[in-house]
Amino acid sequence: MTTVSGWRNLPPLAGLCSYDDALREGMSVDRCVTWMKRHHYLLVRLHQIFTARITAEPVYELKTAFSLHAYLCAEHASAFRQRVGELREPPLGLDVVPHAGLERLCDEVLCAPTHVELTLGLYECLIPALVASLKKYLATTNLLADAPSVRVTRFCLFELEEVAAFGRQAVACLVDERSREQLVPWLQLLSDCIASAAGVSGCDEPVEINVHHASNQDSKDEPPSLSSTLKPHFSSTPFVYDPIPQRDERFQDSFNAGVNPEAFLYDQRFAARDKTLMMFYKRLREIDVPEMMASILIQTPGKPWKYYRDMSRQLWDEARHAMLGEVGFVHLGIDWSRIPINFTWSRNLNTQLEPWERHAVLFFIEQGLMPRTGKRYEWEVGLASGIPLAGLFQDFDWADEVLHAQIGREWYVKEFGDLNEAMSYGDRCWSQVLSHWRSYLDDGRTAHRNWWPEIYLEACQTWGVIPDPVALAFQTTYESTRADLKQIR
Ligand SMILES: [Fe+2]
Ligand SMILES: [Fe+2]
Repeated sequence: MTTVSGWRNLPPLAGLCSYDDALREGMSVDRCVTWMKRHHYLLVRLHQIFTARITAEPVYELKTAFSLHAYLCAEHASAFRQRVGELREPPLGLDVVPHAGLERLCDEVLCAPTHVELTLGLYECLIPALVASLKKYLATTNLLADAPSVRVTRFCLFELEEVAAFGRQAVACLVDERSREQLVPWLQLLSDCIASAAGVSGCDEPVEINVHHASNQDSKDEPPSLSSTLKPHFSSTPFVYDPIPQRDERFQDSFNAGVNPEAFLYDQRFAARDKTLMMFYKRLREIDVPEMMASILIQTPGKPWKYYRDMSRQLWDEARHAMLGEVGFVHLGIDWSRIPINFTWSRNLNTQLEPWERHAVLFFIEQGLMPRTGKRYEWEVGLASGIPLAGLFQDFDWADEVLHAQIGREWYVKEFGDLNEAMSYGDRCWSQVLSHWRSYLDDGRTAHRNWWPEIYLEACQTWGVIPDPVALAFQTTYESTRADLKQIR
């Protein structure tokens, strides 16, 4: 240990690290880049896995967590991309699979059949392996010479440890002993995948395991072929994205479009306080946006990385908006599972439109929220309601939507070159989507029950006010009116 210290005992080296850390042998630029590319690869694949599983995952808490975790992985992948680019690396080679064992690992988790295998693979194998490698990187590299990478790595580690903590709790809630026992061979396969790559870091004691290839993508640092232990299990058939949104049992009567909250919200006759109920409902219903946006992300390959990062931010914001609505109902002591949270928007868009057309509809709707009657109005209603939480939530919701309109201009409008044309295309695409309001009723999928009076009465009880008889009698449906109050032809 060195006994040298700073002038008047000031912390040396800008407080970054000790002299001993700075005297550490560390790693060459080349070695750092190779290692960080592995972190980057796993983050990109994790982003893909989380995103691909949002739509068809029934459990709401997993849907929202996957939305967050996908976004965090996208952000950290961006940071590693940038850092690698700073290290004499053009061409960056960021699309190269660093090791076939890591690719097999990710493919297996992506193809996990249910959330039992999926949460185990993600939160008990993939993420802990990445966390361990990030820690090892910090313990190995020279903290002074490689300080910019250290910063990127530390931030990634900080957030991934939170992801891992959520994951441990999720696994404890979702995976029983019997399922775990049955999955021992699969978990062993995942460990073998990592071992074949000499760990995520690539610097563990190499274990000579051959990866059985579906394609021939051997990378040069792969150990020599000796056996065929890494046979694909779940990934023996390629992953197929499921675009049909699923909901857990708390979501009942999901085809119900018997209440049109926008018609209530923009009706002058009703009180701001009463309108907050409809806004909380609208927010919670936004869980359909991640379900739809995930389909765009998964079915739109080949875009610049920033596209995926930006769209994932927006996707996460929409999941967050749903949670704001959820918290609104918690605040009122109302059990939201008694309200039908409609999913036909994401279902119809995902099954009736192409990814590009879905993006057009999304942009059209969000741009439509920008004028005075849109998000600003919702915020004003929140402020006027006397319910501070409603004002606060709409304030941030509005800010988020301004960002989303910008993201739409960047990744959607630019292709048109003209805002008006981009808007009318989005409008046309939305008109194309059949709402099936009548056929859902005729098929018996829903009775379009008017759930409003019962929830409104309960809220009035909480507020200790006498219900407004006109508000109580509200019964406008979506049969002939779209959410933007345009008539359905
Ligand atoms: Fe939103
Ligand atoms: Fe939005």
